[in-house]
Amino acid sequence: MADAMKIAVIASGRGSNFEALASACRDESYPARIAILLSDNPGAGALAVADAFGIERAVVDCGPKKGSMSPESSSLMASLCVERGVGLVCLAGFMRIVKGELMRAFSGRMINIHPALLPSFRGLDAQRQALDYGVRFAGCTVHFVDDGVDTGPIILQRVVPVLPDDSVESLSARILAEEHVAYPAAVRFVAEGRVRIDGRRVRILDDN
Ligand code: GAR
Repeated sequence: MADAMKIAVIASGRGSNFEALASACRDESYPARIAILLSDNPGAGALAVADAFGIERAVVDCGPKKGSMSPESSSLMASLCVERGVGLVCLAGFMRIVKGELMRAFSGRMINIHPALLPSFRGLDAQRQALDYGVRFAGCTVHFVDDGVDTGPIILQRVVPVLPDDSVESLSARILAEEHVAYPAAVRFVAEGRVRIDGRRVRILDDN
């Protein structure tokens, strides 16, 4: 597809959501292509996934402070994306809060996947938070990234039941399977130019 949107994926860990996106992008008719995979973690499984798919990847040292990124790393990630003509940045298990130049350069063009039905259970260990709270339903959310933590406008959500014998592992696995459906679907909406942010609400045009 000639005019496919170029996306960057940023991942800190295993990379299964990145893999789901990379698989979707292999389909000729899918409206996005992955230009680069960025990681803050030299040991991230996502890097091996990038190699397996032949996708360019770079490790960017984001500094020693857990959960936050240095201004230099933010500027470097932003310029790596801008240089490649990236139109959408997809956070896929990036375990740092995006600040600085990356946030400025891609404001309104950066999305994240979170393993909970936001606005419940923001932040770390969302699946454990859901189990501890005792909710009957859990799920995942794809949302725009704003200045808060998991607070931006919601593009789509998928729901799973919480079963009586669930562990964090079993619930996480059930949610993850839905994440792998939700993220490619959300990126498709954005890449097709069908997403409008209207205050807190996101409208998907021509969604039947
Ligand atoms: C996913 O469950 C994703 O939703 C979560 O990290 C996991 C990454 O898995 N993200 C967050 O918790 C962000 N707050 P993956 O590396 O296999 O895609």
